[in-house]
Amino acid sequence: MRSVTKDNITDVFMGYLADDVDPRLREVMGSLVKHLHAFARETKLTHAEWNMGIAFLEKAGAISDAERHEFVLLSDVLGLSSLVDMIHSTPEGTSSSVLGPFHISGSPPLALGADMRRDFEDKLLLVEGVVKSSDGTPIAGATLDIWQTAPNGLYSSQDPDQDTYSFHGLQTTGEDGRYAFTTVRPVEYTVPSDGPVGDILRACGRHPWRPSHLHFIAKAPGFRSLVTEVFPDNDPYLDQDTVFGVREDLVMSYQEMPADSFPSEGFELSGKVNEDYLKVQFDLRLVPA
Ligand code: BEZ
Ligand code: FE
Repeated sequence: MRSVTKDNITDVFMGYLADDVDPRLREVMGSLVKHLHAFARETKLTHAEWNMGIAFLEKAGAISDAERHEFVLLSDVLGLSSLVDMIHSTPEGTSSSVLGPFHISGSPPLALGADMRRDFEDKLLLVEGVVKSSDGTPIAGATLDIWQTAPNGLYSSQDPDQDTYSFHGLQTTGEDGRYAFTTVRPVEYTVPSDGPVGDILRACGRHPWRPSHLHFIAKAPGFRSLVTEVFPDNDPYLDQDTVFGVREDLVMSYQEMPADSFPSEGFELSGKVNEDYLKVQFDLRLVPA
């Protein structure tokens, strides 16, 4: 097509796609380009702004490597990651939420009732619950990959003072579908803001904070894997998570517990707790595959 105009360029683009192109690719690319063109027309995008956008993408590419995923972070702070999650969530299961960049594979087994706090100083938190099917049946042998920040607000991969698997563990539910461990409260933290995504947050007058949370990936044969996180209801950033990860059903309450109520068996710390502690009960519902 020679006579490309600002009004027909979207149709010309569609016409350039091969007749036998994969139908889903046609749908996704077609829609992406339609909205991209509409965005440029609607905002009357200038050359200077287009250049800024390209420079941003180049910076995001340059800072990215096997550990730094600036484009994922961009998707997170634009709400795209969460939107994709929500589009594919079903109300019968626990909501999914962002994976984030701090998950590491190969976490060591965490026995039922084991302690992740080790010698970190902060209030003890007992976490327990049942992994269930969406019909309420407990799932024995489900695996829970668990990770969180240390009390200093850093994940192990960000902190040279923590060992690789500090505050990471892989637990398998018992016959009753139950999981249980002790840890310390996770704390709120900022997403990496020293790169181009941080520049966007600042330019938009946005903060980089996330409310504190515990991450889980729950897996069981015959069920859809669930990537999620749970948030305490008293966190100051609960209503302003910079990556839009909070869902109503992922909010839980810490119960203040006296030291003498700590279970006398079933936990690594049973018989050793002399301090008041916090407790949270959170069940996870998995949807059949
Ligand atoms: C996190 O929860 O670890 C996270 C999620 C999205 C962006 C950055 C961090
Ligand atoms: Fe996190």
